[in-house]
Amino acid sequence: MSPWLLPIFLHILCLSTTPSVLSSAFSTVAIAHFSDVTLVCALVPSLIADRRHELNCTSASNRRQRTYPTRRMAYSAVAAGDGFLCGLTVPPDGSYATMRWWEFPGHGSERYGKRVYRGPALTALASGDAHVCGLIGGAHRPQCWRWTELAIPAGMKFSEIAVGRDFVCGLLGCGAIRCFGTDAAVVGKEPTGNFSMVAAGTWHVCGVSDSGKLSCWGAGAPEWDPTPLDIASMALGENKTCVLRSNGTVLCWGKGSQPPDHLAREQFIVIQAKGDAICGVRLIDYSLVCWGNELFRRNHTVYDRVLPGTCSPIASCGCGVLPGSGIMCPSDDEGICQSCKLQLSPIPPSNPSSSQQASSNSNRGRVLLMVLGSVGFGLGLCTMLVCLAFKNRNNGRRRRPPLAPPSSQVEPTLGGRLDGANMAEVSIQFLLKVTDNFSEAHKIGSGSFGAVYRATLPGGCDVAIKRAEVPAAAAPSMSRRNEQQRLRDVEQRERAFGSELALLSRINHKNLVRLLGFCRERGERVLVYEHMANGTLHDNLHRKPIAPPSPLSSWPARLRLALDAARGIEYLHAYAVPAIIHRDIKSSNILLDEEWTAKVADFGLSVTSPNDEGSVAAGTVGYMDPEYYRLRRLTEKSDVYSFGVVLLELVTGCKAIHRSEEAEGAEEEGEGSATPQNVVEMAVPWIEAEDIGRVMDRRVAPASAEEVAAVAYVGYVAAECVRAVGCDRPTMGEVVGALQRAVAACGGENGPDRADPSQARRQLSRAHNSM
Ligand SMILES: *[C@@H]1O[C@H](CO)[C@@H](O)[C@H](O)[C@H]1NC(C)=O
Ligand SMILES: *[C@@H]1O[C@H](CO)[C@@H](O)[C@H](O)[C@H]1NC(C)=O
Ligand SMILES: *[C@@H]1O[C@H](CO)[C@@H](O)[C@H](O)[C@H]1NC(C)=O
Ligand SMILES: *[C@@H]1O[C@H](CO)[C@@H](O)[C@H](O)[C@H]1NC(C)=O
Ligand SMILES: *[C@@H]1O[C@H](CO)[C@@H](O)[C@H](O)[C@H]1NC(C)=O
Repeated sequence: MSPWLLPIFLHILCLSTTPSVLSSAFSTVAIAHFSDVTLVCALVPSLIADRRHELNCTSASNRRQRTYPTRRMAYSAVAAGDGFLCGLTVPPDGSYATMRWWEFPGHGSERYGKRVYRGPALTALASGDAHVCGLIGGAHRPQCWRWTELAIPAGMKFSEIAVGRDFVCGLLGCGAIRCFGTDAAVVGKEPTGNFSMVAAGTWHVCGVSDSGKLSCWGAGAPEWDPTPLDIASMALGENKTCVLRSNGTVLCWGKGSQPPDHLAREQFIVIQAKGDAICGVRLIDYSLVCWGNELFRRNHTVYDRVLPGTCSPIASCGCGVLPGSGIMCPSDDEGICQSCKLQLSPIPPSNPSSSQQASSNSNRGRVLLMVLGSVGFGLGLCTMLVCLAFKNRNNGRRRRPPLAPPSSQVEPTLGGRLDGANMAEVSIQFLLKVTDNFSEAHKIGSGSFGAVYRATLPGGCDVAIKRAEVPAAAAPSMSRRNEQQRLRDVEQRERAFGSELALLSRINHKNLVRLLGFCRERGERVLVYEHMANGTLHDNLHRKPIAPPSPLSSWPARLRLALDAARGIEYLHAYAVPAIIHRDIKSSNILLDEEWTAKVADFGLSVTSPNDEGSVAAGTVGYMDPEYYRLRRLTEKSDVYSFGVVLLELVTGCKAIHRSEEAEGAEEEGEGSATPQNVVEMAVPWIEAEDIGRVMDRRVAPASAEEVAAVAYVGYVAAECVRAVGCDRPTMGEVVGALQRAVAACGGENGPDRADPSQARRQLSRAHNSM
C-alpha cells in the first residue's frame, strides 16, 4: 500500500470502529455569558423538597440567584454558552431524553424553556460558546442543536465530543481525533496519535494520548509539556487550559488561569471552564468555587453545595459512590458515581512517627458531616449516613463481587485507600459533642483497640463510636523499656485502626457491621459504626434472660442467627478481594441489630494475606485455632474453627471457657470455684456419641423432634469445624449450606419472624401436648 493511502485507510477504519464506553460525559455545572454578565449554573440540592435537586444560575457580579423549574423530572445534566442554557432530563430507566433551552437575555423568561429535543437517550452532552452538541443513542451519533451550517459526515461515531466556538471535535473509536467546522487553526490540524480524551475551549483543542501526554492546538493553546501527566479530565476556556490530575489537584496554563493560592492545593472532583471563568467542585464539601474572572475575587465560593456529578443507578458505579451523594438523587437506588480516573479521599500515609503530619493533611479531607450538620440540610447527617449504610442492604444475600475493583489491593496496613467507601471523615469536636466528651454514661463496651461509646446524632439516629486508647505519653522519667513498650502499643493501635478502616471501607454485606465514618485527627483514632441495638451475642446468650423476644429463646431463631453470622464470614473468605481472615471470631464480636439480625464486627485483627508469617498469633483464648496457635499457620480455616466454637456455644448455652456444669447457674458469684472447661472438650464427645440431648441448652423451651434433629445436625457441623487439623474442617461456604439445611428443616428460612412470640407459644403448647 502506498504510504499516502495509509492515513485514508486509517480514517475509514476509524469510522467503522464502535467507540468504547464513555466516562463522565455529562456535567452538572455550566457557565453562561451574555452581554457582560457571567452566570454560573449548577444542579444544587434543593432546600425544600426531599431528595431532589434544582437547576439554579448565579450571576457572578451581583450574586443574584434564579431557579429554572422542571416539569416532572429533575435535570440530569446542564450545558450553557453565550446566551443560552440547556437542561437535559432523563427518566430513571434511561429510555429517552428531553432537552430544554433558555435564551438570554430575556433571562430565559419562559418558565420551562423551549423543548428542543425529545428522543433516544444521549450518551454525552457538551457545549461551546455558541452551540451545544450531544451523542445520541447506542450509535453515539453526534448531533448539534441550532447549528445548521455545521456538516458532520453521516455514519460518524464519536466516543467523546468537544465543542468550541466554531468547531466540534470527536474522539473516534480507534483513538484518533477529528474536528469539523470553520476554525482553520483547529480543523484539519489534528495531531496523529492514539488519544483517550478530548476537550475544547473557545479557539483551541487538547487531547490526552494513550501514554498520558497532553497535546493542544489552535489559538491560545499552551505550549505543551511532553512529560505525561496523570490527567483525569480537562477544562478549556478562552486562552486558558486546566487539567484535573488523578490526585484531584488542578494544573492550569494561560494568563489569569491559575487558581488562587488557597485553592491551588485543594482537591476537586470536576472542573469546567468557559471564556475566562474556570470553576471546580471541591472534594471536601462539594462546594463550587470559581476563578479566572475578576468578579470571583471577592468570594470564590459560588454555591455551598452542588451535585458533584450526574445521578445514576448505584449498581452502575464501577468505582463506588461519592460519600453523601445518595441523598441528592431523586431515587433511592441512585447515587453519584466516583470517577475511576480519580483517586479520591486518599488517606495520607501515616505511621506512628509521622502521624502528626498525617493528621494535618487529613484536615483537608474533613468531610461533609460537619458541613451538613451546620447547614441544617433537610434530612440531616444521620439520614445521610444511614441511607448510605443501608443502601446496599438487600444485596447482601446475592453473591456479588465487592465494590472495589479486584486490582485494588488494600493491605491491612496503615493508610489503605478507601475505594468506593460510603463513609465520611468526621472531626473530633463533633464526636466530643455527641458523646459528652466520651463520658462514662455513653460507654457501652470495648473492642480490639479501645472503648466503645453510644451516641445519638442530631438527626436522631444512634451510632456506636469506637475510640482507640491513647497510650500514655512519654514521661521524661520513663525508662527505655517502657518507652519501647509504649511505641509498640502505639504501633499496634495504629495497625488495628488502619486494618479495620481499610477492610471495612471496601466490604459491604448485611451480616457485617457497617462502618459509617472515621476520625483521624491529631492523636485520635475513632471509628463510627451503625449502632447494634441488641448488643452482642455473648451478652444475650450468657448474661440476659433467655425469653422472647430474644431469638435465643427458640431453636429455629438460634440457628437462623448462626446462619446470619456464617454468611458474614463466608463473604469475607469467598467474596472479598483479596480474601479477609477475621482472626477474632467469637460470640462477643457477633452483634445483633434491632431486628435481631446478626452481624460480624471488630476487624481490628483481620488480615488479608493467609500466611502472615512471623506475625504473633492473635485472637481470644477458647476460640483460637490450635493449629494456628502452635504452628502460626493462618488460613481461612482458623476462622472456621472459631466459628465452630460459637456454634457450640449456641447449642449448649455454655461459654467457650466455662466452669463445670454444676457451677453454671451460680457463675457470676462463683467465679473461680470450679475448674474451667472448654466447650469443645465438653460438647464434642456427646455430639459424636449421638447424644445431643445431653448438651443442648436447657433454658430453651423443649424442642420438637424436628428441632432436635436440626440441632444435632448443627452439632455435627460444629464438631467438623473444630477438628484439630485445618484441612479437615469445612469451608465457610459448606457451613452456610449446612446451616441453611438445618434452618429449613426446623421451620424454613422464610418462616415466622425469628422473634415471633406466637411461635414460642406454639412450641410450648406442642411440647406440653407431647408430655
Ligand atoms: C435556587 O434559587 C432560588 C431563587 O430563584 C432560591 O430560592 C433557592 O434557595 C436556590 N436554591 C439553592 C439550593 O440555593
Ligand atoms: C494506535 O494504536 C494501535 C493499536 O491499538 C497501533 O496499531 C497504532 O500504531 C497506534 N497508532 C499510533 C499513531 O500510535
Ligand atoms: C486570546 O488570545 C488571542 C490571541 O491568540 C487574543 O486575540 C485574545 O484577545 C485573547 N483573549 C483573551 C480573553 O485574553
Ligand atoms: C498530585 O500529583 C502531582 C503529580 O502528578 C504532584 O506534583 C502533586 O504534588 C500531587 N498533589 C498532591 C496534593 O498530592
Ligand atoms: C461566599 O458565597 C457563599 C455562597 O453564596 C456564601 O455561603 C459565603 O458565606 C460567602 N463567603 C463570604 C466570605 O462572603
